[in-house]
Amino acid sequence: MPPRTTRPAGPLPAGTRPAGTHPAGTRPAGTRPLGTPTRGTTNPNRLRRMDRWIAAVHGAALRRSERPPTAVDLGYGAAPWTAVELLERLRTADPRARVAGVEIDPARVAAARPYEREGLTFVHGGFEVPVDGAPALIRAANVLRQYDEGQVAAVWARLCARLAPGGLLVEGTCDEIGRRHVWVALGPEGPRTVTFATRLGSLDRPSDLAERLPKALIHRNVPGEPVHAFLRDFDRAWAAAAPYASLGARQRWIRTARDLAGDWPLVDGRRGWRQGEVTVRWSALAPGAA
Ligand SMILES: C[S@@+](CC[C@H](N)C(=O)[O-])C[C@H]1O[C@@H](n2cnc3c(N)ncnc32)[C@H](O)[C@@H]1O
Repeated sequence: MPPRTTRPAGPLPAGTRPAGTHPAGTRPAGTRPLGTPTRGTTNPNRLRRMDRWIAAVHGAALRRSERPPTAVDLGYGAAPWTAVELLERLRTADPRARVAGVEIDPARVAAARPYEREGLTFVHGGFEVPVDGAPALIRAANVLRQYDEGQVAAVWARLCARLAPGGLLVEGTCDEIGRRHVWVALGPEGPRTVTFATRLGSLDRPSDLAERLPKALIHRNVPGEPVHAFLRDFDRAWAAAAPYASLGARQRWIRTARDLAGDWPLVDGRRGWRQGEVTVRWSALAPGAA
């Protein structure tokens, strides 16, 4: 659990705790949260790459909102670390940011409550996202991987419908310590991009990331599907960039991304590549889009 210092001593300040209540319209009284409790595996700092990317690409949109923007950490797991960290990192982009951790397992909500503080609440709920208003951000990390592929589209649609105008849904998967990560970013209108993010020193080849593909793509990494072709080309570009390895894995990755951008619609540039990221349009990887 995070150090006790993350929660100020004494009662929560007035107005900081809608936690445990379900605003009208999000879930009728007496009904169950939407979804299924799953394994609660989490780790401190596990989602740092996702947090950094969110703050970088979505920070301006957060700052533009008239009200303090609410972010939801959906399915934060057996300990509240990722929600605590999301708040800290979003506040570097917008000091008004607030985070609601939403978890379908009530015991995990009870365990997280002692860590509530100004701007951070924990709520029992599921895909109905029982928080006041429309969130500027919903982040669901390592949640949908434990559902069926056939459920993903409906869950995405439901979560996108909960977003504020200009809001962002980030849904993806990573390894236990966050070295390898793949996530899909969606706006209210639907999926926009897929980001591959890695600790470069730990990488043999880009397709090492295949085992962390989000649920919508992991079963599609087979010949004939766009994501398979993308990872094949990514590996080829990485192999061709081998001479750059003497300058370090980062230079090799940047060279690889530059090559890849010749054939695939990458939407980021050197700044993201330096962080070990590559972001490509969803439409290029969508199942059946070849
Ligand atoms: C593997 S943990 C991920 C924890 C954290 N997000 C991370 O990436 O480290 C998945 C969590 O999602 C929760 N969960 C599953 N379905 C959910 C839903 N529909 N709504 C809210 N939480 C859900 C599970 O109970 C579990 O605690």
